[in-house]
Amino acid sequence: MLAKIGSAAVVGLEAQSIEVEVDARRAGQGGILILVGLPDAAVRESGERVRAAIRNSGLNFPSNQHITINLAPADLRKEGPAYDLPIAIGILAASGQLPLPKLEGVVMLGELSLDGSLRHVRGVLPVADMARHNGVKAIFAPACDAPEAALIPDVLVYPVETLAQLVAHFQGFQPLQPLPSGVQLVSQPPPPAVDFAEIQGQEHAKRALEVVAAGGHNMLMIGPPGAGKTLMARAMPGILPLLALEEALEVTRVYSVADMLPPDTPLIQQRPFRAPHHTISNAGLVGGGHWPRPGEISLAHRGVLFLDEMPEFNSKVLEVMRQPMEDKLVTISRAQGSLTFPANFMLIAAMNPCPCGYYGDPERACTCPTGIIQRYRKRISGPLLDRIDIHIEVPRVPFEKLSRATQGEPSTVIRARIEAARERQRVRMQGTGLACNADMGPAELRQFCALRDDAQSLMRAAMRQMHLSARAYHRILKVARTIADLEGVPQIQVHHLAEALQYRTRVLDV
Ligand SMILES: Nc1ncnc2c1ncn2[C@@H]1O[C@H](COP(=O)(O)OP(=O)(O)O)[C@@H](O)[C@H]1O
Ligand SMILES: [Mg+2]
Repeated sequence: MLAKIGSAAVVGLEAQSIEVEVDARRAGQGGILILVGLPDAAVRESGERVRAAIRNSGLNFPSNQHITINLAPADLRKEGPAYDLPIAIGILAASGQLPLPKLEGVVMLGELSLDGSLRHVRGVLPVADMARHNGVKAIFAPACDAPEAALIPDVLVYPVETLAQLVAHFQGFQPLQPLPSGVQLVSQPPPPAVDFAEIQGQEHAKRALEVVAAGGHNMLMIGPPGAGKTLMARAMPGILPLLALEEALEVTRVYSVADMLPPDTPLIQQRPFRAPHHTISNAGLVGGGHWPRPGEISLAHRGVLFLDEMPEFNSKVLEVMRQPMEDKLVTISRAQGSLTFPANFMLIAAMNPCPCGYYGDPERACTCPTGIIQRYRKRISGPLLDRIDIHIEVPRVPFEKLSRATQGEPSTVIRARIEAARERQRVRMQGTGLACNADMGPAELRQFCALRDDAQSLMRAAMRQMHLSARAYHRILKVARTIADLEGVPQIQVHHLAEALQYRTRVLDV
């Protein structure tokens, strides 16, 4: 008998429909099992897992039959253990143990352990999305992954704990209950690890972080060791607004295919904060690999990518971020065509002013020879610096200030201002598909960032004096727009532009 079971393959951020065909017919002596259709090692081992799972579930593995399993379409590579479940159900159906009509128009996936229980698989969210587009009526997924699938409306999602449970469902003995679909949104993020109130002094840097968070910009902090650069970057998550539903689904999809969705968190609603180590590889940062996975720049999508001690990173690795920083996505080419992952992140970078860390310090002398300082700073290329909107110096906070008992503004108060500024951006850019000022292209810049005469002449003078590139010009306009939004002012004024320009002083010039 021939059984056909719907399943899916995850390629990049998308799922593609896969049909698991199982043909079982009586053989003379002893049975064999053949698996075809470009399977990888994990899929090839599926046969053994399925055999044990079926037996240990108290079901009958047709051991005297000749079983052929084909994963169609044959030209698409099949990866991972998620086909265990459709293969097991297919074998049971093809050997006459399950009613075939009940298996039509459904999609199932899940890894089987030898005792017949279902294990977690990655990428369930894009599979559910694909199922909805293809008009599939029901999805059967491991119980731990089912809430993720249920984020997608219009498809019934059945959580499955064991193979035996699913068999009882199809045999009609004990029907499974689908999960209620839809999204549970939280209204408040959890308290931050570092609150802005704990940061003494550094008003300039805190203001810059607020501007970055409000408009989705990039920032570089330069200062001696112990100035609080790492501390301030780690305070960022506490002032970022929660993700809107559409954004949350985008981010969750990246984590789902990267297999990095935290347990018990079907939907990621907090903006990501990623702080990769400086030894990270090219593929680790921008994505790639044999089965392309999202890199850190995609895991930081709609959130923060924090590169601490930036000159320690391999400069070739840093350079590959340049294109994604412009495009807000990354394209990964491979043998079977290219893939894209989203990469719209806020870069926060930190560095010492020189290898010893004390160049320009009022109290401690720098011991680095000039040539060495220049070489150190050259590790961050001009084109990369040009893509960073805000460059600020972070001096050391004197002891008297550090030991003061007064507290700064708490993160919740700052976040409220940022939320208000983001709301203004959202309303202004409704219909453009853009979320924040940093996302604006030339058309939006013309429409939303027109300068009055006085601001225009300040800009002209600054362009000449500071030798600014066209890219820098656009980035300054966007930052000025965000500063005006924080103030709640409809048009960019001279003092907004002046503040934005001041963030562009070349702190890296020796
Ligand atoms: N402005 C500050 N306010 C409060 N604590 C600070 C400040 N600057 C530094 N510190 C303290 O010093 C520690 C080291 O700061 P850190 O952020 O690692 O400095 P950097 O990254 O600039 O070398 C912090 O964990 C914090 O305890
Ligand atoms: Mg540090």
